[in-house]
Amino acid sequence: MSICHPILFIIWVLSLLISFVLSSSSSSWCPPHFSLQTDRQFEQKSDRFWEFEEQSNSWVEVELPYDLVSCVDGNCTTVGSIAQMSKKTKDHRNREDSVPEQSSSSFRKKDGGKGGVKVKENSDMVLPLRKRISLIKMSEASIWVTGASGSVYERFWNGVQWVIAPHDLPVLAGPANSVFMVNQTILALSEAGNLYQMHLTENSQPVWVDFLPTVDHSTKQEPEQNSTFQLKSGVISDDWERLYFCTKNGSLLELVGIEPPRWVNHGRPPGANVAAIADAASVRPEVIFTLSSIGDLYEYDRSSKPSWKKHIWREGTTTEDTSLIPSKGCALHGFGGSHSVSLFLLTKGGNLVERRLHQRKWKWIVHGSPENHHLSSITSVSQDEFNEKTSSLFLTTASGSVLEYRVPKYSGSAQDNQIEENWVSHTHPPHAKLARGISGMQFQVGRIIFPLDDGRLAELHLPGLGGETAGPNYQINVRRKASLKYVWSILDSPETEGWNAEYCTEERGPTNCIMGIKDEPSDENVARSMSRGRKGSKEQQNYLSLGSISSSDPRLHTELYNMPANWINMNFRLRVMQGGRSFFLITDSGLTFEYLNTENVWIWLRHEHTTAMKGAVGYYNGSLFLVDEHGSLLIRERSSDGLAWINCTAMKKARPILGGPPWDKLPGKGLRVTAEDALFFVSKTGRLLQFTVALRKFKWKDCRNPPNTKVAGIVDQEIFRENIVFVIGRNGRLYQYNKVSEIWHEHRQSQHLVLSRLPGTAMRPSSLSLTGSLFMLSEDGGLVEYHWNGLDGWNWVEHGTPHRSVTLVGSPGPCFQGNQLFLIGSDGNVYLRYLDQTTWKWKNCGFPYMESTAG
Ligand SMILES: *[C@@H]1O[C@H](CO)[C@@H](O)[C@H](O)[C@H]1NC(C)=O
Ligand SMILES: *[C@@H]1O[C@H](CO)[C@@H](O)[C@H](O)[C@H]1NC(C)=O
Ligand SMILES: *[C@@H]1O[C@H](CO)[C@@H](O)[C@H](O)[C@H]1NC(C)=O
Ligand SMILES: *[C@@H]1O[C@H](CO)[C@@H](O)[C@H](O)[C@H]1NC(C)=O
Ligand SMILES: *[C@@H]1O[C@H](CO)[C@@H](O)[C@H](O)[C@H]1NC(C)=O
Ligand SMILES: *[C@@H]1O[C@H](CO)[C@@H](O)[C@H](O)[C@H]1NC(C)=O
Repeated sequence: MSICHPILFIIWVLSLLISFVLSSSSSSWCPPHFSLQTDRQFEQKSDRFWEFEEQSNSWVEVELPYDLVSCVDGNCTTVGSIAQMSKKTKDHRNREDSVPEQSSSSFRKKDGGKGGVKVKENSDMVLPLRKRISLIKMSEASIWVTGASGSVYERFWNGVQWVIAPHDLPVLAGPANSVFMVNQTILALSEAGNLYQMHLTENSQPVWVDFLPTVDHSTKQEPEQNSTFQLKSGVISDDWERLYFCTKNGSLLELVGIEPPRWVNHGRPPGANVAAIADAASVRPEVIFTLSSIGDLYEYDRSSKPSWKKHIWREGTTTEDTSLIPSKGCALHGFGGSHSVSLFLLTKGGNLVERRLHQRKWKWIVHGSPENHHLSSITSVSQDEFNEKTSSLFLTTASGSVLEYRVPKYSGSAQDNQIEENWVSHTHPPHAKLARGISGMQFQVGRIIFPLDDGRLAELHLPGLGGETAGPNYQINVRRKASLKYVWSILDSPETEGWNAEYCTEERGPTNCIMGIKDEPSDENVARSMSRGRKGSKEQQNYLSLGSISSSDPRLHTELYNMPANWINMNFRLRVMQGGRSFFLITDSGLTFEYLNTENVWIWLRHEHTTAMKGAVGYYNGSLFLVDEHGSLLIRERSSDGLAWINCTAMKKARPILGGPPWDKLPGKGLRVTAEDALFFVSKTGRLLQFTVALRKFKWKDCRNPPNTKVAGIVDQEIFRENIVFVIGRNGRLYQYNKVSEIWHEHRQSQHLVLSRLPGTAMRPSSLSLTGSLFMLSEDGGLVEYHWNGLDGWNWVEHGTPHRSVTLVGSPGPCFQGNQLFLIGSDGNVYLRYLDQTTWKWKNCGFPYMESTAG
């Protein structure tokens, strides 16, 4: 499953040989690791500080002045205090959202002029860092992505449409965090710091093979240096022939040859580490710019002496914000005068700065940032040399918007400090924010792809020139004009990220992995490829993002619904332990029985416990999860020395439980075991709780609830869609929780459709296709289906009731063969809802009738 089609790989390699455009936007992955410097004074640069509140498991902003308290054995002393900064300095920082949308109004550095509308500050707006996400353009028809889940996949244009091919690393390698290509060799870096090379096996299957960095001993390194390096991030050189890495312990490493592997360790600057590579030979040939975790810029030129030079800020610099973010910068030539070269970087305060070399002199130029915006990453776009009067940089803010910084190109007469600056906001696609701190990638002129915070991708493009249905345009003759507005399109991601892009197939047709065929006689395929286009825009409307809602929001208070006391007992009374061999039954009085088939005989077995049981709420790898009258979650399992109970509520961060997933994944059927395997439960207070069970490393996590409602019950956990938990809110609406991105989404749902709070049933006929449905009941006892397929995306289908006089009671029963569903009617009969050819029909199955034996 994790291997792409061999021919795809070969064709894809060929297409690389033909041409590929260089994009220097592959991002760097070096989170700052802070080292202590004793000779430094701490300087307060912010007025906003957060405290971790263990009770709510969240960060709470503190009010200043704030005392820093140190407690030793309960003896607490105040060791310091954070005070309010003076008004003037404060104004330079902590800003959020105010650039006018796509109106190319110009404003000065934020210190100077005011521009745009002020938006109320929202402390929730700084997005989390998604460490594993990266994008790289491999050819005109191929983009490789590492997702937040650590998966590797390729978006490939097969001539008809974009298809997705999985290229995941072997399970033991753990999650990937970036992919590189150098001299037609593809390498992937794992989060653990190891490198893998893609090889073709004898039967032409691509596989990942270890590619361990061991330093060449012929260099001046100490001979005993043999231990393998753990790599943190890498940057491809400007000419695509070298790869530079920073190691986890802060050295600069260069890959100079692949067959055989040849590595050179360049070490580190004196007194500092290499936390990120800012530029690999695109500013000046053979020269590498690095950033230390403290935020200083260094230049490394092995042919000069000394090799490492530090680029310092002169005393009396106008800005105090000179510490740089360790991430990749962006180099522009001829921007500040003929033969000048500029390296654009970001400061930790979120400002854009430039290091410019002009007429043999280096200088720093502060470009700042628009008011209320904190810049977090740079996306460089290749500039059109001939027709452009301006150069552009695209910057992602910490709150997930994209700003474009337009600067007129050097005209020869203008003085540097008279350059007029132009900030234009492209905001973000509807219901989705950009991933913070991660660079996008220019795919073609006028088409830039950015990773989204929710795990999908977004394309910023000129109208008609991009989006899910637009392939590579080989002859682009469009010049970017200031008057042309960019638009956003959302590109779907595969299920590894909890989304709906299906993997390509080997079958002939539009979704073939290598060559899409669209001129097939079958109308179905034409309709399919056409409707794929509609899907893109439609799907985007189905997922509604949930902003944070304050507790004063009226929506929270309309919630009158409380869960009935016997809710667990009503819904979680039976659970299969082993298909065809054993199931559990919980009685009204709280006794636990197992019906067990042993040596072809069925027997009843009683499982004694000190407290009365309420229900069986989950199953995983031989362990049954039960909940008792106090809401404690208990595991019942057969261990080496007989039967055992484990109290999960006795573990850290546990909460009383109200419910669990209605159905379990049955072992066998292509079930993937991962280190992230978890069961989800609903707490008595209406929160979703994640309980990690993989490899018995038990751990609780609070996933909270959608901001506008509490969780009533789980409709489905990961049977319908891997990494997604569907829940019904106490307000009768459908929500989903993405296990990878930890984001809640609401699904578009008619105001008139109120779902019952009963658990649901998921139907997914094949693990190879994402097509399927969730079945739920409406509040008035009708059957409701929420269906997904590749043609139309999501759709609600209301099936109603079997008869006018009968409503459905109790949660939907099991689903068979992907087209049969059992339900219980208010008249006590069992009803079957089944698909007859293409029509749904009802069938009354009656009820089990016991013939009187008394005679
Ligand atoms: C508490 O700590 C302070 C400072 O370390 C020390 O002077 C004081 O004696 C301690 N008090 C107790 C009760 O240990
Ligand atoms: C160097 O690494 C190789 C391969 O991992 C190992 O066999 C060898 O013993 C190591 N030598 C030293 C001196 O550590
Ligand atoms: C970094 O790690 C490598 C491999 O473990 C080691 O050889 C090297 O000495 C380390 N460098 C520093 C500066 O700690
Ligand atoms: C790539 O090829 C060039 C030219 O043949 C060579 O100089 C360079 O060392 C190669 N790089 C790697 C990493 O193999
Ligand atoms: C399980 O642990 C919780 C928390 O320590 C405790 O309150 C509860 O009584 C325990 N239940 C059983 C059945 O041991
Ligand atoms: C499944 O259970 C066995 C036996 O308890 C255990 O050794 C194994 O680690 C478990 N597997 C997973 C993925 O949790």
